[in-house]
Amino acid sequence: MPSLHFKGKTFVQHHHLVVPYHELTPVKAKSLTDKASLHDNVIVHGDNLKALKALLPTYSGKVKCIYIDPPYNTGNEGWAYNDNVSSPMLQEWLGKTVDREDLTRHDKWCCMMLPRLRMLREFLSDEGVIFVSIDDNEVHRLRCLLDEIFGEDNLVAEIAWRNVTDNNPTLISVEHEYVVCYAKKKDRLPKTWKNPNLGVKLRLHALETELIAKHHSQSDLQDAYTKWFRENRFQLWPFEDYKFIDKGGIYTGMRSVHNPGKEGYRYDVIHPDTRKPCTPPLMGYRFPKETMGDLLDKKRIIFGEDETKLIELKVYAKDYEAKLPSVIELDTRLGANELRTLFPESTRHFQYPKPSAFVRELLQFATDKDSLVMDSFAGSGTTAHAVLALNKADGGNRRFLLVEGEDYADTITAERVRRVIQGVPTAKDEALRAGLGGTFSFFKLGKPLSLHSILEGQDLPDYESLARYLFFTATGEEFDARKMKRKDWFIGTSRLYDVFLLYTEDLEKLKNLALNLELANALRGPGGKQKLVFAPTKYLDDHFMDRLRITFHQLPFQIYKALDK
Ligand SMILES: C[S@@+](CC[C@H](N)C(=O)[O-])C[C@H]1O[C@@H](n2cnc3c(N)ncnc32)[C@H](O)[C@@H]1O
Repeated sequence: MPSLHFKGKTFVQHHHLVVPYHELTPVKAKSLTDKASLHDNVIVHGDNLKALKALLPTYSGKVKCIYIDPPYNTGNEGWAYNDNVSSPMLQEWLGKTVDREDLTRHDKWCCMMLPRLRMLREFLSDEGVIFVSIDDNEVHRLRCLLDEIFGEDNLVAEIAWRNVTDNNPTLISVEHEYVVCYAKKKDRLPKTWKNPNLGVKLRLHALETELIAKHHSQSDLQDAYTKWFRENRFQLWPFEDYKFIDKGGIYTGMRSVHNPGKEGYRYDVIHPDTRKPCTPPLMGYRFPKETMGDLLDKKRIIFGEDETKLIELKVYAKDYEAKLPSVIELDTRLGANELRTLFPESTRHFQYPKPSAFVRELLQFATDKDSLVMDSFAGSGTTAHAVLALNKADGGNRRFLLVEGEDYADTITAERVRRVIQGVPTAKDEALRAGLGGTFSFFKLGKPLSLHSILEGQDLPDYESLARYLFFTATGEEFDARKMKRKDWFIGTSRLYDVFLLYTEDLEKLKNLALNLELANALRGPGGKQKLVFAPTKYLDDHFMDRLRITFHQLPFQIYKALDK
């Protein structure tokens, strides 16, 4: 397979593996919960490469859907690559802010993205997918990177999002961007993505029930709906053509009866007023004559004012078969409007937020009600908003993991989430006005976990952070802090081991901490498995270790990845 080469690639190729593990420090004051926990909705403030590494022990292989919206690399974003790659020369080159004059800006962007995409793939479950927003600046390079990391067979689709009117076209007016979707393992995805709980569909259904009950004449009913439709149309995707209502419900007359691409059925359909045959579609009708008879009986065919107009099919919103199309039409300005409603006091807003309806649409197809959703370029927190709104609409329990590097992780990202959870008094949407409900825990990146600091006795990592790191590194399995029993030195059970960590942040106690016979006898693992014990030293010979089924690893050196495999 051809692969993309760019300056710096050899240096960043395996960079994700050597990123130091950092502690995650809960910030209670910025959280919206009494007890901050990594098992809550999570917002992390910090560089996403480090933050992802720190989240990996808890969430490796657990995430169902990732949505990211990285810098598009337009040359105007003022981003700078700041990963701590080991080569000083490369550091010097990469570290400069990227602008239009920078002829290597595409190389830098690839250097930034490659390790992040590799790391993100680790989070996906076998049924998981990633969506990446991008535009013409980098879409082709992004596809090459994703082909390399995910495998070209795992491309699900490249969605075109038609989102703006180009008021200043040059040769061709560009009115779309892209969302590229790859699967971890495409053969593990369902054959079709079904979406029975389309939020807008539910909203329309509630409205039609209310209007039909209130208005008895057809003209009153249509007038009332037309008024509502005019005010809300721009929020109705994919129902923006559903302009009509009758006693059967809200419907569109835009669906054609022609047979696209191949020869269709030929027969006459008589216009009810002029009694003459209607002009048939060029290639004939899409349905056989009997089906058309049935549709006419059920009043599902819409006639023009005379027989010269093509007939159309009436499709009710309730019969809409949801599918995720490869072309999505939604005005991008909705994102900024949404933020204005959420932050009415502010005049300077986050630039180019995505509309939450857009992200929600992707999530509706690609997640189940209890899925984990991740966004490591969180910006204004649109993904969290979409997750909470979708949960509210379908009674789901999805969770989000967000990472944002800038200081506005608290003032914009988390603040938006606080507001949508607690309610936005000025919002038009009833659910949002009342508040979407939920909690979240805010974390910042702590210090890097250096095993040498244990040797030097300075800046000792805290027990839980070290346990998280050791457990995941040694077993390759998820660490769950809730299962730790610190007084028994127990940190978790893996497929093959009950794992123990004899360690304390108190240097004087640490100096005297050793696995001796008394402690070894007391170690109790709930799994009844071979015991994997990390400790500074041991006073036990191999005979006792075998008898007590203990595999010993000395801190800080003997940490082997995936011992179990
Ligand atoms: C295009 S914006 C995302 C907008 C978001 N989808 C929304 O709707 O608001 C990209 C975001 O990624 C953040 N970002 C860029 N590089 C990052 C990094 N290395 N670590 C963490 N965040 C980063 C930027 O600060 C910015 O907020």
